Amino acid sequence: MYYPEEIIEEVRQRNDIVEVISSYVRLQKRGANHMGLCPFHNEKSPSFSVSAAKQMYYCFGCGKGGNVFTFLMEYENETFGEAVKALADRAGIHLPEQEYDAEAKKRAGLRSRLLEVNKEAATYYFYQLRSEKGRAAMEYLKGRALSNETIREFGLGFSSQNSKELYRYLKSKGYEDELLRQSGLMTFDEARGVYDKFWNRVMFPIFDTNSRVIGFGGRVMGDGSPKYLNSPETAVFDKSRNLYGLHRARLSREKYMLVCEGYMDVISLHQAGFTNAVASLGTAFTGLQANLLKRYTGEVVLTYDSDAAGIKAALRAIPMMKEAGITTKVLNMKPYKDPDEFIKALGAEAFRERIREAQNSFYFEISVLEQDYDMQDPESKTKFFQAVARRLLVFADDLERNTYIEAVASRYFIPAEQLRSLVNRLGAGYVNVLPEQAGYTGWEERRERASKKKQTAEEGLKQSQRLLLTWLIERPELFDKLKGVVDENDILEPLYHQAAALLFQEYRETGAVNPARLLSQFESKEEQTEVAALFHTLPTEEELDEKAQEKAFNETIRRIKKMSLEEAAKKASEQGNMERFGKIIQEQARWQKLYISWE
Ligand code: CTP
Ligand code: MN
Repeated sequence: MYYPEEIIEEVRQRNDIVEVISSYVRLQKRGANHMGLCPFHNEKSPSFSVSAAKQMYYCFGCGKGGNVFTFLMEYENETFGEAVKALADRAGIHLPEQEYDAEAKKRAGLRSRLLEVNKEAATYYFYQLRSEKGRAAMEYLKGRALSNETIREFGLGFSSQNSKELYRYLKSKGYEDELLRQSGLMTFDEARGVYDKFWNRVMFPIFDTNSRVIGFGGRVMGDGSPKYLNSPETAVFDKSRNLYGLHRARLSREKYMLVCEGYMDVISLHQAGFTNAVASLGTAFTGLQANLLKRYTGEVVLTYDSDAAGIKAALRAIPMMKEAGITTKVLNMKPYKDPDEFIKALGAEAFRERIREAQNSFYFEISVLEQDYDMQDPESKTKFFQAVARRLLVFADDLERNTYIEAVASRYFIPAEQLRSLVNRLGAGYVNVLPEQAGYTGWEERRERASKKKQTAEEGLKQSQRLLLTWLIERPELFDKLKGVVDENDILEPLYHQAAALLFQEYRETGAVNPARLLSQFESKEEQTEVAALFHTLPTEEELDEKAQEKAFNETIRRIKKMSLEEAAKKASEQGNMERFGKIIQEQARWQKLYISWE
């Protein structure tokens, strides 16, 4: 870790978590905690809880949790070191200079080191583009009407034809193979050795919202296949939760954002003055990207390609936007394929006009739907209205639904009453229909979440260990009762064991526990989140009475003890230590009768 532990702890203590989170999320005091709408998933009623006493937050909806550092890492997408720095600044604490010697570099977290390698590579590509070798690439970009300024602003570069050049360069800078392997910049091949993944391509660095290079897209010059090559997912590159161009678009003063398909679209839109354009990263638009956008805007204009793939992509994105609380319009690009072509042909003013004329997403959906029906044929036409009525059910709000019913009716010249009764007939039995029932696609993420819940059933054993740790945080007096019965060595799950060891040790030394401090000892936000979940395993809503909790506590202890003894017995028998094995078996019988009273 970069900074001494005492300093990290001082920074943490001087930044009250309720104050810090309040500058991002509206919190309301409820009992001992502050509650608000979770910034990490979309929800209508608050399940995000911040505890001033524990100096931790936790969302009972999505399971995200941690201390004040975790929050910044998660929300601002920062590394641990950056979060410490930001909060030290906030509290006016002067941090000691970080040492950048070889040792310190190795100790820095994987994420920071990957970001460093990426930055190094981006700089390298940047200079290649401006060198003699990059001349053809520069001509290609100029041929696509990009100005010098645009090329610089987006940090465009060139990867040379020599497929080992970047590797050699980064090695000369002291980066080790393992890190380079994890950067996704190199391919490690047994037969061919190491070579650069990108060569002879125009390079588009991909930035996160803090303008750090997290990955790359590379385009062949001219025709060639594949047209684009993208970095694989790495510890710093998550394609589902970043957007190309957002680091600049977030600074735009427009109140809506443009979402398009490609890197070149984003760049030519920005160059034409539409600095609010973003694109997904060579993959379909995701719900997480919608949530990310929602932090900056409540309205999106989709400027996808005008082909069938673009229409399909729009139909997928619309419900995700809605789920995130964003209203969507769809721009008509015809007769051009994409924003880049459109602007080249008709210019920025014409494009601005198209933005003004962009169609509300619901009308867009039904006009796409309409193409599947023959409106001259009465039977087909009836089926069309039934399909429209099913979609109208998605609007849970009566007023909103009625507004759309009126609008659709007048658009298709049918009496609103007729459509309304069709909607009501279909809607009888279920209000607030699931979009899936209404025939929308693109709900994979929701299904994924459901199947994750199922997996937790298999997680029963881990759950017991989590429960115990939560109890210990909530009622430190239980530490004394557990003396000689259960300690950290009975917690087998590696990460949990590590957390338990820190907890037990702290209690032994100080007679108290400080979970928020403990979290800072884990550097990755994934670990911090998981450890925070350890301390929030009890569901607050369905709190059990004292006696029932005591009973549950004892069941948990017995379960943990049983597992840990089984593990010990297995080890003893593997080692052929039959004496120890026998002892453990006897102990097992004894523990089954264990009961620790809370009185
Ligand atoms: N894409 C990709 N791999 C491909 C083709 C496309 O990852 N083989 C992604 C890229 O992110 C690209 C986006 O899909 O930016 C849109 O594709 P396309 O419309 O074909 O690319 P354009 O951005 O229009 O690129 P260009 O104008 O340079 O042809
Ligand atoms: Mn295109």
